[in-house]
Parts: sequence; C-alpha cells; structure tokens
Amino acid sequence: MRILGIETSCDETGVAIYDEDKGLIANQLYTQITLHADYGGVVPELASRDHIRKTAPLIKAALEEANLTADQIDGIAYTSGPGLVGALLVGATIARSLAYAWNVPAIGVHHMEGHLLAPMLDENRPHFPFIALLVSGGHTQLVRVDGVGKYEVIGESIDDAAGEAFDKTAKLLGLDYPGGAALSRLAEKGSPDRFVFPRPMTDRPGLDFSFSGLKTSAANTINQAFKQEGELTEQTKADIAFAFQNSVVDTLAIKCKRALKETGYKRLVIAGGVSANKKLRETLGTMMKNLGGEVFYPQPQFCTDNGAMIAYTGFLRLKQGQHSDLAIDVKPRWAMAELPAI
Ligand code: KG4
Ligand code: ZN
Repeated sequence: MRILGIETSCDETGVAIYDEDKGLIANQLYTQITLHADYGGVVPELASRDHIRKTAPLIKAALEEANLTADQIDGIAYTSGPGLVGALLVGATIARSLAYAWNVPAIGVHHMEGHLLAPMLDENRPHFPFIALLVSGGHTQLVRVDGVGKYEVIGESIDDAAGEAFDKTAKLLGLDYPGGAALSRLAEKGSPDRFVFPRPMTDRPGLDFSFSGLKTSAANTINQAFKQEGELTEQTKADIAFAFQNSVVDTLAIKCKRALKETGYKRLVIAGGVSANKKLRETLGTMMKNLGGEVFYPQPQFCTDNGAMIAYTGFLRLKQGQHSDLAIDVKPRWAMAELPAI
C-alpha cells in the first residue's frame, strides 16, 4: 500500500509518499517562513494563498521523486486539523478531489497525531505504551499513549505553547520569526549564572504548564538591562536566551518526570517543533538514563511540520479501512481524545 500525505495546516507545505514495504519513498517540503518574516508571525490569508501555489507542484515532485505514476497511489492522507482553517481547506480540497479523481480513499489526519507518531518513521521506533510530550508552536501537551488512537491528554499549557513562548521571547531579543531555533543557538553562548527565570507551575501538583509569564520575565530583564547598558550587548542577549531556555527545558523535564512517575511508564517520546531543541534533548536524555528508561525523538527533519508524518499516520488508518467521506470537513480545533483507536 502506498499513501500520499499532504500537510498544509500552517506555514509549511509538505507532501510525502509512504510505502508499506519500503517506508518513506518521497518527501517534499516548502517553507513559507520568509513570506511571513516581515509580519513577525504567520498571516493566515497569505499562508492559504501560498499553499494553493505550492501543493500541486509538490505532489508532482513527490511522484517524480518516488518514480511513481498516479495510478500507483492507493490512498491520500491530508491534515484536517487542528490549524488555520483556510490553510487546512487548501490541502483538504486538493487531497479529497484528487482521491475522487484517482478513485482511491482519502483520510483526514489529526496534525498532532502526526507529530506524535513521527518517531515511528525511524528504525528505532518506540513500543506502546509511552508518555508523549508534544511541544510545537501551537500546542504543549503531555499525552498517555496506549496505542494508535488511544490517547489521554494528562497535561497541557493553560496559556502559551512552548514554541510560542520561544518565538515571543526571540522577538523581544530582536530575532526573526519564528525565532525558537535562533534563540537556542544564541543561548549556547550564554553564561549560566547571570539570570535565573522561574519554573512556572512546578511548585504545585499536576501536569499542566504555563509559559506566558516567562515572556514577561524576559521582557522585564530586557528593560532593566536596557536601563543599565542602553543598547543590549550580544552577551546580554545570549545570557537572557540561556536563562529562558533553561527555564522552559527544566519545566518540561520536571513535568515529564512527574507524568512517568504517576503512570509508571518507562518510555518517553518527544515530538513537535520544539523537540528539535538540543538542550531539551540533552536534558531529557540524561533524565531518562538516570530513571532507567528510554527517550525517543523524531529525526530532526520530522520534528517541525512535514508531509511524511501525515502520510504515515494516514497509512496506519487507511490500512485498517478507516476513511473520510466526500464532504470535506476540516477542524481548526480538534481534541486528540476524539480520535478512534485502530
Ligand atoms: O511543529 P511545528 O513545526 O509547528 C506547529 O505545529 O506549531 O513547531 C514550530 C515551533 C516554532 O514555535 C519554532 O520556533 C519551534 O517549533 N522550534 C524550536 C526549535 N526549532 C523549532 N524551538 C526551540 N528550539 C528549536 N531548536
Ligand atoms: Zn506542527
């Protein structure tokens, strides 16, 4: 079985082909980052228009990459939520129409389930059950995963997502949108002793997160430094980035440890854009070693949005005979717990 996957939920157009026997055989990605950079964030209308321009050429490129023709595709998976409604509609409409024309089934995939299953694209894949930490630009969730479609969200952010906090703090430091990765690089030059930010919501029980206060800590520290130094030096920016990143990473680690203790699970999966963060990977790696457990991440290219995770997730569901009907239905907000098990 060969499945074409289409991802258009935000600012990346991703198209990939997953082959049941060979694994991933095509992976095409176009990122709109430069299009939105001048605006300091994703402009939904511009995102939709760009997906319209890019999706069909990327499908053609994916078929060429895999050396396949359309009649060798057995099904189409597309992201049907959560995400920007206009952007989702572009991918869903193209996918659904192509499936109708090619006479193959189509399935709408949950974007966060795609992220959650992205580590399965690796040879060293995690076995169920595990705890998943999903950290992206729009979500921060701890999920108890007992199988495909067997998800219980046991903790989540009550305000900003971790990636959103990275991006907002990066903006305060003058970095281009989305500044998460750039902030992380800046933090590598930071000194550990100069600033310390709080670890929000770690002093009380529970698995929820709150990251909006950290942006305020960063803003206050920047203002104070500005009063003392005038224009902020590169070292001061790096020191602030270091303190911010340490605080996010420590907070995520504390809650992961708590979730593992509460459930008795020994495996941790980290996915979503922020799972590309080096410091987070190092910290959780050391933590899991000390706990006698294992940690799994997607390959770096599958941490941020991509078509491969959608093709793979769609494959798992289509293989079980699940599919969506002809009426195109996208869900800008969609709880993972609503997904059927397979
Ligand atoms: O999963 P993703 O591509 O899109 C959403 O579904 O939201 O995640 C994008 C987020 C952005 O906030 C970006 O700044 C963040 O992931 N990100 C990082 C790193 N790489 C990407 N944050 C921290 N460190 C990184 N290395
Ligand atoms: Zn995503």
